[in-house]
Amino acid sequence: MRKDEIQKPVKILFVCLGNICRSPAAEGVFTHLSRERGVADRFEVDSAGTYGGHAGDLPDPRMRAHAARRGYLLDHRSRQVCPGDFERFDLILGMDDYNIDTLRSMADTPEQTAKVRRITDYCRHYPVDCIPDPYYGGADGFENVLNILEDACEGLLEHCLLS
Ligand code: 4NP
Repeated sequence: MRKDEIQKPVKILFVCLGNICRSPAAEGVFTHLSRERGVADRFEVDSAGTYGGHAGDLPDPRMRAHAARRGYLLDHRSRQVCPGDFERFDLILGMDDYNIDTLRSMADTPEQTAKVRRITDYCRHYPVDCIPDPYYGGADGFENVLNILEDACEGLLEHCLLS
């Protein structure tokens, strides 16, 4: 790319069920990493839930506390995924099968369907195929979410910077 060419930011939407645990954590981890690397201006990130029952809420206090211990500030307000997201974002990353199925059912065109991916596909160390829902579990579940998300977001950032 020529130096004077304007590079468009990559727009990434992280999606879980309630948008109060996993996807706001993914947004926080990715934002932190991109700032740390000095490449935050190359991305626009947001998160949303397939279920709108927590709309307007801050992330779950347990998720915020576990994230804060690792230096991630989670101040996103929950919102539900909307049809416009399939136009606006380049990548729409679901946390588990249920999220992926819901997102695919919302996509209107093959191009929109192709934007829907599984976040764990970017993991390089954790051999998992979903981010387990921590909502009804204990502290270990929230730590597990962050461990997998750190791996996935590192891989995602590398992937975006190389492509
Ligand atoms: P999240 O977790 O999808 O990671 O935000 C959940 C949040 C809320 C509920 C379930 C999962 N809920 O049943 O309200």
